[in-house]
Amino acid sequence: MQLDQDITTITEGKTKILVPKAAIESKVPPMDVAFFNPRAKLSRDFSIIAYSAFIKKFHGPKTFLDSMSGVGARGLRVANEIKEIEHVYVNDLNPTALELGKKSAEINNLQNYTASEEETCRFLSSFSRKGMRAAIVDIDPFGSPTRHLDCGIRATVHGGILSVTATDLQVLHGLFNDACRKKYYGTPIKTHYADEIAIRLILGCIHLIAARLDVEATPVFVENNMHYYRVYVRILNKSDTRDMMGFISHCRSCGNREIGKERKELCDICSGTMIAAGPLWIGSLFEKEFLKDMLEDIPNHTVDKKCAKTIQRCILESEMPGCYYTLDELAEMRKKSPASLEKSITILQKNGYASSPTSFNPTGFRTDCKINKILELFSSQIPYPRQM
Ligand SMILES: C[S@@+](CC[C@H](N)C(=O)[O-])C[C@H]1O[C@@H](n2cnc3c(N)ncnc32)[C@H](O)[C@@H]1O
Ligand SMILES: [Zn+2]
Repeated sequence: MQLDQDITTITEGKTKILVPKAAIESKVPPMDVAFFNPRAKLSRDFSIIAYSAFIKKFHGPKTFLDSMSGVGARGLRVANEIKEIEHVYVNDLNPTALELGKKSAEINNLQNYTASEEETCRFLSSFSRKGMRAAIVDIDPFGSPTRHLDCGIRATVHGGILSVTATDLQVLHGLFNDACRKKYYGTPIKTHYADEIAIRLILGCIHLIAARLDVEATPVFVENNMHYYRVYVRILNKSDTRDMMGFISHCRSCGNREIGKERKELCDICSGTMIAAGPLWIGSLFEKEFLKDMLEDIPNHTVDKKCAKTIQRCILESEMPGCYYTLDELAEMRKKSPASLEKSITILQKNGYASSPTSFNPTGFRTDCKINKILELFSSQIPYPRQM
């Protein structure tokens, strides 16, 4: 690669990053020279906020392992933008990507940035001894992260954070159920809330692997967009006595859904046959205090305005039931165009139900109201919706 001709410098957050020009100019970032995806900026913005909020309250080695770093975008930003971080170790199999990262570290005057060229699990294993484990560990592969989870969990210190990206959307969306069962130990179903099912499958897999290693893994924050799912789990080195695996049962006839330990065969509302997703994680997706720390920390960073809005939604939904509804889904059922999200939530709340928006979908809401009652309330209280 001719560095001067093919490489350009961008600024993301407060950090200068050398990236292949092709990664900026082409629609799909090329994987061959050195990988950088400009569209993943928002995910890296969330990382900066989450890691920063976490590390401020963490007592222990303030180290970050970027186990699949590409050109080092996340690791460079963590080293440069989170002042509490003591050292960042980046790793990738691609030497060109690592070279670019090292040059970027020089441009940003970073003394706390070390690069290595190892297979991810070998890299993570070198940190899995007591005294070597890191406060924050990131796994950001092309596709599924599952083959790296054992090593990631073992490299994270007691009380630390493991963050994991998954981009094998077709597997998590039910196109290849055998592959999903093999990789994530559960299967999805196609629903309007498929994104929540995908996140719960990833969390279920992490929970099972962690439990096998005598480790407890608990989600503190999750986020997704069209191209990826990302989860942040807190790792505690103690036996997991909780049983947080279960199923989402869904009735295709009436839209009723239930999340619980057992899968349900028949729908309580219409007696229709239910289909099930799982086994998957049925516990909370967010830790409210962690989210509040994230929100409070935002002004310290240069991040997209969308971050605050998303985290506010996460706070509102953090203690709400699983399996959100979308306005599109309700419009399909009612054969009428939907009322606004705000109005829909207000109707539910005024009738004594808990309801909130969800960070998973701009037109999604959570509620403890069942589908038959939701439809009844919306029909009586949104009397003149426009005909579709
Ligand atoms: C999605 S990219 C990482 C992007 C990066 N974290 C960022 O935020 O820009 C995945 C990276 O993992 C590297 N990779 C894939 N398999 C690997 C393995 N088994 N060991 C080490 N690196 C690997 C690839 O070279 C690629 O740079
Ligand atoms: Zn039903």
